[in-house]
Amino acid sequence: MHRRETIMVVGATGRLGGLVVRALAQAGASVLALVRPVTDAQGLSELGIRLRYGDLADRASLEYACHGIEVLVMTATAASRQPPDTIETVDRAGYVNLISAALRGGVKRCVYISAAGSDPASPNPLLRAKGEIERRLLAAGLEVTTILPSPFTDVWIPMIVLDPVSRGEPIRIVGDGTSRNRFVARADVAEVATSHALSASGSRRIRVSGPEALSWHDVAALYERISGRAVALQTLSYEGAVTMLGPVTAGLLRVLDSASAENENLTDALVIGKTKLKTFLGKSAERAAG
Ligand SMILES: NC(=O)c1ccc[n+]([C@@H]2O[C@H](COP(=O)([O-])OP(=O)(O)OC[C@H]3O[C@@H](n4cnc5c(N)ncnc54)[C@H](OP(=O)(O)O)[C@@H]3O)[C@@H](O)[C@H]2O)c1
Repeated sequence: MHRRETIMVVGATGRLGGLVVRALAQAGASVLALVRPVTDAQGLSELGIRLRYGDLADRASLEYACHGIEVLVMTATAASRQPPDTIETVDRAGYVNLISAALRGGVKRCVYISAAGSDPASPNPLLRAKGEIERRLLAAGLEVTTILPSPFTDVWIPMIVLDPVSRGEPIRIVGDGTSRNRFVARADVAEVATSHALSASGSRRIRVSGPEALSWHDVAALYERISGRAVALQTLSYEGAVTMLGPVTAGLLRVLDSASAENENLTDALVIGKTKLKTFLGKSAERAAG
């Protein structure tokens, strides 16, 4: 860090944002968290992290919150929230609001958490919103570090494998389960985001992937080896997955099946996270046993 810039993390009450805001505070950065007035942020206050209140759906609140901020770290998403928070109101329109507030507030640079496979023309609403926001950030003249992570190990493995199996259900996927994805640990993504929030200048796109390319069959086999439990794999049609898992998860499972999440060729750098699936599953098995 050349000097102590003021950094604000948007999405700091979330899982990735929570890791980043804590790491920035620990590194001695001047860091604030944007939180919604309705959200419990006591954990952040107790760490001495200053709060600014705002909601991505409320442009006026963002204008106030961005005042005097030099660096924004943007991790917020509605993917795991309920309406009225949706991909449209948060990941797309909410970020449009945030960009205009950032410019008025004097923000110079930002770290934006996009996703592998982002594309303004994607049929998937989340990846389409991410692609649009990437373009808008650059068009706004900000210095942007865009981070494109693979699917998170911490989200997809519990949701598709551990939780259903613990209920005695099969692993339900879209497609035949042979496409490979490089699941990445959230902590490995947080490390990259934190280091770029502290010191980057200029603009770049960074792909952050896990160390192994694994199909759902590979994941199931590894789980069986580690847990000693047999698991079944059930293939769903996209429509069936919408009914059983909801439209956001079903849509992203379809992207994982096409492996288009891994076809990223416009990146400037590739970071390979260190956390292997075996380590993640081993820790999960220990927790379940203890
Ligand atoms: N899951 C994956 O596999 C994956 C892969 C690649 C990239 N990513 C990206 O990684 C990022 C972090 O994901 P995560 O799983 O850590 O997220 P998360 O835990 O679901 O956190 C979401 C955050 O967004 C905030 N938020 C939602 N709606 C908001 C609104 N209207 N105004 C202000 N804040 C709002 C939430 O605040 P509240 O607590 O107030 O609701 C929370 O802090 C996201 O951008 C996601 O798209 C995820």
